[in-house]
Amino acid sequence: MTDLKNLIKNKKAKIAVIGLGYVGLPLAVGFAEKGFSVLGLDSDKGKVGKVNKGQSYIKDISSSDLEKVVKKRKLSATTDKKILNKVNVIIICVPTPLDKHQQPNISALENSAKTISKFIKKNQLIILESTTYPGTTREVVLPILEKSGLKIGQDFFLVFSPERIDPGNKKYTVKNIPKVIGGITPQGSELASLLYKSFINKTVIVSSPEIAEMTKLLENIFRVVNISMIDELALLCDKMKIDIWEVIKAAKTKPYGFMPFYPGPGIGGHCIKVDPFYLSWKAKEYGFYARFIELAGQINSQMPHYVVTKTIFALNKSKKAINGSKILIWGVSYKKDIGDTRESAAYPIIHDLLRKGGKIEYFDPFVKEFKISAKGGSASGGNKQTLKSIKYTPEILKNYDCVLILAAHSEFDYNEVAQKSAIVVDTRNAIKSRIYKNVFRL
Ligand SMILES: NC(=O)c1ccc[n+]([C@@H]2O[C@H](COP(=O)([O-])OP(=O)(O)OC[C@H]3O[C@@H](n4cnc5c(N)ncnc54)[C@H](O)[C@@H]3O)[C@@H](O)[C@H]2O)c1
Repeated sequence: MTDLKNLIKNKKAKIAVIGLGYVGLPLAVGFAEKGFSVLGLDSDKGKVGKVNKGQSYIKDISSSDLEKVVKKRKLSATTDKKILNKVNVIIICVPTPLDKHQQPNISALENSAKTISKFIKKNQLIILESTTYPGTTREVVLPILEKSGLKIGQDFFLVFSPERIDPGNKKYTVKNIPKVIGGITPQGSELASLLYKSFINKTVIVSSPEIAEMTKLLENIFRVVNISMIDELALLCDKMKIDIWEVIKAAKTKPYGFMPFYPGPGIGGHCIKVDPFYLSWKAKEYGFYARFIELAGQINSQMPHYVVTKTIFALNKSKKAINGSKILIWGVSYKKDIGDTRESAAYPIIHDLLRKGGKIEYFDPFVKEFKISAKGGSASGGNKQTLKSIKYTPEILKNYDCVLILAAHSEFDYNEVAQKSAIVVDTRNAIKSRIYKNVFRL
């Protein structure tokens, strides 16, 4: 342990990051900027090539920052798993999605553990950052690693430390979000804390990986439950002809005990949409039904349907049907100012509008192409339809029967959108003014 501690302290420890996505790439760049030698391992050759050319594909990392560390030879990427044998620290940042039956799919994580087990050497620190259900580090990853013959605590260290990054958030980045750390052994936590402190302001050591795993889920469940609660209230307020946005604005003047959440077309993204269901799945093992999570999921999954109904209602006011109407979808990413479309509500909404005969085009400055499957999800094969973002000028708005705002990217003049469009269905309260009679809100 002392050797590894010194290597970390002196920034001589070699670090491998498995999975160079939204989580892994900022982390790899962060360590490389601090002088560590970082090797990124990714199964996607395209990403590996881009990293080595200093071309960033993640909005939060600029290509110039990436290029700097690549040119200094502090960061390089590869698909060669053998590099795992040459490093002192391995950080796993691979995806943990749900399968088509909404059950956890931890195959990428298990495969990473199996690969590490093949190449593991004494005195390595292994950190899992991918979000997963409580117990994964101890029950799934540890036994795979110990198949190598090496022993935890004695030969290697294993830690769970959840990533809490909020893509697109300029105020809170990987550097100033405290890092929760739960090691199987206290030495592992200590080493991980020392490592992360090299570029993250604060670390919070907890007593076990299970606490760290559950902490991450609590944070995401808190959001999914509250967003779904406000979605439900938005549906009720609509019936009661009460402006939910004005209600939230007033409620948040309370200086304590209230935190604003906003309704929307349906939760998207990896964390809030997916992670809570890792826990409700695990809960069933204990004969326990996590009802808040399931209910939140049910309410939220109705939101895309409600948005389509609202669009029907809005068009109906001008005696138009969806069938044959030209509809411009404004923003297909799951939230504003990012290009991530994973689990975006735009998938089921566009799918449904197309099915009803709508002539759909979309505009998104961050998403050049949008592929939807025959079932309304993201298309990773099989039947799919590819849409390409239109080039936006305010003049084109008059060509559409309706503009449907799903992601209200910043730096656009939404008053102009209201003024130049026939009808706007605004699911994000992008148009703050209440003077426009052609704007329909959630
Ligand atoms: N995106 C977020 O905002 C966010 C925030 C907090 C936590 N997380 C969690 O972090 C984890 C990673 O998420 P992400 O958003 O970075 O995913 P991502 O899809 O952006 O990146 C994952 C990367 O891993 C690579 N990969 C997949 N399997 C691999 C394997 N077996 N070996 C090597 N590389 C492999 C993929 O090619 C991809 O580049 C997930 O568990 C997620 O829940 C994500």
